[in-house]
Amino acid sequence: MDAMVEFRDVSRYYPSTAVQANDHVSFSVTRGEVHAICGENGAGKSTLMNILFGLEKPDSGEILIEGKPMSFRYPSDAIERGIGMVHQHFNIVNSFTVTKNILLGIEKTRWGFLYRREETAFVKDLSEKYNLPIDPSAVAGSLPVGLLQRLEILKMLARKIRILILDEPTAVLTPQEVKPFLQTLKGLAKNDVTIFFISHKLHEVLEVADRITVMKRGKVEATRKAPDTNTRDLAEMMVGREIVFRINKTAARPGEPVLEVEGLSVKNKLGVKLLNNVSFTLRAGEILGVAGVSGNGQEALVSGITGLLPISGGKIRLRGKDITNFDVRSRRRLGLAHVPEDRLHMGLNPAATIMENILLGRQRHLQFRRRFTLNVPACNAWAKKIIADYSVYGAVPNGPTAKLSGGNMQKIVLGREVSSAPILLVVNQPTRGLDVGSIEFVHQTLLDHRDRGVAILLVSVEMEEIMALSDRVEVLLGGTFQGELTGEDINEKSIGLLMTRGQHHDA
Ligand SMILES: Nc1ncnc2c1ncn2[C@@H]1O[C@H](COP(=O)(O)OP(=O)(O)OP(=O)(O)O)[C@@H](O)[C@H]1O
Ligand SMILES: [Mg+2]
Repeated sequence: MDAMVEFRDVSRYYPSTAVQANDHVSFSVTRGEVHAICGENGAGKSTLMNILFGLEKPDSGEILIEGKPMSFRYPSDAIERGIGMVHQHFNIVNSFTVTKNILLGIEKTRWGFLYRREETAFVKDLSEKYNLPIDPSAVAGSLPVGLLQRLEILKMLARKIRILILDEPTAVLTPQEVKPFLQTLKGLAKNDVTIFFISHKLHEVLEVADRITVMKRGKVEATRKAPDTNTRDLAEMMVGREIVFRINKTAARPGEPVLEVEGLSVKNKLGVKLLNNVSFTLRAGEILGVAGVSGNGQEALVSGITGLLPISGGKIRLRGKDITNFDVRSRRRLGLAHVPEDRLHMGLNPAATIMENILLGRQRHLQFRRRFTLNVPACNAWAKKIIADYSVYGAVPNGPTAKLSGGNMQKIVLGREVSSAPILLVVNQPTRGLDVGSIEFVHQTLLDHRDRGVAILLVSVEMEEIMALSDRVEVLLGGTFQGELTGEDINEKSIGLLMTRGQHHDA
């Protein structure tokens, strides 16, 4: 079969971080193939895709498209040659309609549309041709993430792309949205679109990909046909050691109540109830998992407890102390730590150094002070320890945070929060974007902290994660808890039932 894309000895070194992000990468991908790229955080997956898309330049080596060497200076050159990329952070104008977003930038130049009716018809045809249903007149800002994803792909298809690059597309989808999405990709491939698919979820990779290339420290470790490999094999190639997919968990030994929540309600700016009368007690040394499809009040629950959003009713006590009216900082001072879902905007200051981010909020601690100034060696030593513990590949204390790979940013936030000796740890999607080895490490770390008496509130849309870690499970649906599950009842079926309760009656 003829190669659609061929990488020949592609290398890229980043002087600012002293990382060889791509190291003589060579492999090729055939037309209409779904080709997955796997590898640890920082392995160089996004870098390689950015080079293919013309966002980055290789230091050496070349890329051939249908046998012809390409040299892209800008993504527009890549699009011109039929290459499209959907980034993890979408590029959508919220106030525009679906149609307007899809045609943005190409409306007059290539298509010469004059009438809205033609535009709508074009979008409709496109969405029917590729079986990607969407309402052309919907305002983008009102769409759920799954549909925004679809919109991004339609945008690319409208530009007649033949090669589609998807960098962790499923990280933002709910488990329910993933299956149809993977089907969509297979459908596109049947239509001769060549797809690059990056994901840390190995079962997805095996389901959708024809072949899989594993990258490790910038190099190609191996390329395998999907039927010739499995999750264990892939994980081992990525990490270089065996991965235990289910860690051993001993029974919790809950102690004193740490967090007491009574009738907590949270409204949005328009007065709509996001969280309705939620009550629970979380004790020292236990993990309470909050399961549910995203958008059912998780953000409100976490924001209410951490003090990021004003609550409209209820009481919150931390170790018996009423903190209902405390601000974020006072709550943190009392021992509350928080790993937010949106690490880029809430968890980190991308403009600061890695050390500054690791220290964020604790610059005043004696451990890090020397009279009136920062004790820089102590700060750096601490940052180094977190970087090593969480294996943040390619990071140095005074390095730029913004240049870290997606998963490595997450590790910085986790490391900072977990190591702050909290009594209450609130974690929201703690392992989103992490590689399998890091997930294993984070899960083990959370359990270790539980066993040392930390109370942990785990909010996750990953059922696997909820089941692996939780001592008790609450399911959030429509802003209320649906009933607690413990012991044997913490299984996929029971959780799933509560997650979708009443949905068949809605229609
Ligand atoms: N613009 C940049 N400047 C400096 N270093 C960079 C830059 N972009 C990436 N790096 C470094 O290159 C390495 C590879 O990063 P890349 O983003 O390609 O990893 P990745 O495989 O996509 O990881 P993840 O799974 O976490 O997304 C990392 O160590 C990263 O810090
Ligand atoms: Mg990446």
